[in-house]
Amino acid sequence: MNITLEQPVHAAAIEKLLDSSFGPKRHTKTVYRLRKNVAPVADLCFVATDTDETGNEVLLGTIRYWPVMLGNNVQALMLGPIAIDAAHRSEGLGGKMIRHSLEAAKALGHRIVILVGDAPYYVRFGFQRDLVAGLSLPGPVDPTRFQGLELVEGALTGVTGMVGRAKPAKLRTAAASSVATGTSAAVRPVAKITALPLPASPVQGNGLETPVSRRRLRRAAR
Ligand SMILES: CC(C)(COP(=O)(O)OP(=O)(O)OC[C@H]1O[C@@H](n2cnc3c(N)ncnc32)[C@H](O)[C@@H]1OP(=O)(O)O)[C@@H](O)C(=O)NCCC(=O)NCCS
Repeated sequence: MNITLEQPVHAAAIEKLLDSSFGPKRHTKTVYRLRKNVAPVADLCFVATDTDETGNEVLLGTIRYWPVMLGNNVQALMLGPIAIDAAHRSEGLGGKMIRHSLEAAKALGHRIVILVGDAPYYVRFGFQRDLVAGLSLPGPVDPTRFQGLELVEGALTGVTGMVGRAKPAKLRTAAASSVATGTSAAVRPVAKITALPLPASPVQGNGLETPVSRRRLRRAAR
């Protein structure tokens, strides 16, 4: 089993694994509002793969991160989605991928990671509900599932407000970037992140995302 940066060739298998793990309605979740029109952090999107008996690469797991903005000016990462092939769960793979990616994030200079997920699973990696008690998400979420992790001690102290979308200065797809540069996660710099305002009334009863036009995104990024 190898954990490597996601490449374009993995895209279809990743979508299939995410659909089977989270169901076809996964895009209606509040966290997808924060991912809309924003590229994932290429240096932190990893896949776990193995080789089958015919020599073909098989996807066992995926983990991705998105950049987000806390309040008006605090940059952070949002972990997820992570999914492990059902046939390979409880083998320690999810834990390996989380630890590997968190170490890479720290090495790249990131300070804060937030997520929405099952607290009993994420507590083992140091995620805590208390650290994000002053923050809100732009849509319906069970508050006990919203957690944070400080990669730098104290990084979440006094951080309050709404979690919003961020847009890396250089918009890239995860795979395109790693193919283009051929460099490893440990040596590439952190992308500069600028805030993108969310729609005026972001909270909707059904949790569906509001479409944002490209023109509006360009205006907001200026
Ligand atoms: C959650 C997931 C990524 C964990 O990956 P994994 O490789 O099975 O996890 P690990 O092998 O590292 O850890 C297994 C342990 O975590 C526990 N665990 C797994 N999912 C859990 C959950 N949702 N809540 C609490 N504990 C969980 C297992 O019971 C097991 O406990 P044990 O070590 O005491 O036996 C995987 O189960 C998965 O893909 N699930 C479907 C998609 C999903 O729910 N993604 C995360 C959203 S919160």
